[in-house]
Amino acid sequence: MNSHPVDPVLVDVARAARRVVVFSGAGMSAESGVPTFRDAQTGLWAQFDPTELATPEAWDRDSGLVWAWYQWRTGLVRRVQPHAGHRAVADWASRTQLSVVTQNVDDLHERAGSDVVAHLHGSLFSPRCSRCGAAHPTDGGVDTEPTGPLAPPSCESCGGAVRPGVVWFGEALPEDAWTRAVAAVETCDLMVVVGTSAVVHPAAELPILAARTGATVVEINPEATDLSRHISHTWRTTAATGLPALVDAIGGDR
Ligand code: APR
Repeated sequence: MNSHPVDPVLVDVARAARRVVVFSGAGMSAESGVPTFRDAQTGLWAQFDPTELATPEAWDRDSGLVWAWYQWRTGLVRRVQPHAGHRAVADWASRTQLSVVTQNVDDLHERAGSDVVAHLHGSLFSPRCSRCGAAHPTDGGVDTEPTGPLAPPSCESCGGAVRPGVVWFGEALPEDAWTRAVAAVETCDLMVVVGTSAVVHPAAELPILAARTGATVVEINPEATDLSRHISHTWRTTAATGLPALVDAIGGDR
């Protein structure tokens, strides 16, 4: 039983929902210990702006530096665990039709037991060749913070440099993931938006699309965002507190 109070209107909406989308961003992973881009960076990374490392230009300029940063993030994600909010989403999905659409490049939803319909910004665990696009096996990143650049591995097919399987600023989203996300969003009657600042497009347009197609959109975020004023329900709480409380409240006397 979770004693965190939940707005009864929200509980009614969630109980009545037949098709749910959980749309998550970096704040979803924060309580697992994965820092968001906007959090202070440490060590070698303190001197770089992460939004500038996550670009094709940075890769062209210094692929070793960019590879080292992603190897560090991959290792960090591998060492942390999903939290109660991730588990609550998986639990909810076992009882209703629920699609997880995420901007996150970690695998915490999956490790909590959810199928992810769309990783809009790719994955840390699917590196690929920057030249021919062939998939390259992930090595799980590094255990200690790199003190300098790390040479990216070479593609087994063509010898090109292997790049992180994530979407960088200025790059297009994977078309299939976007199509699946839009299909889920257009047919949902409830969208729960968790831990995103809703400023990075086109992902930020999905909650607006949901609202326009008649879904109730609920935001779970300790802070107000650009989205907050467009939707009817905002809940100023965190992912690891709000989601388990909501899913417990829906379950009633389970
Ligand atoms: N629970 C819920 N929300 C939280 C929590 C928490 N514990 N902690 C922080 N937040 C919220 C913040 O208030 C903020 O609104 O999570 C949001 C994180 O915002 P961003 O760092 O901008 O993350 P996101 O919206 O996912 O960014 C979109 O930009 O950083 C790039 O490609 C990256 O996919 C990412 C995209």
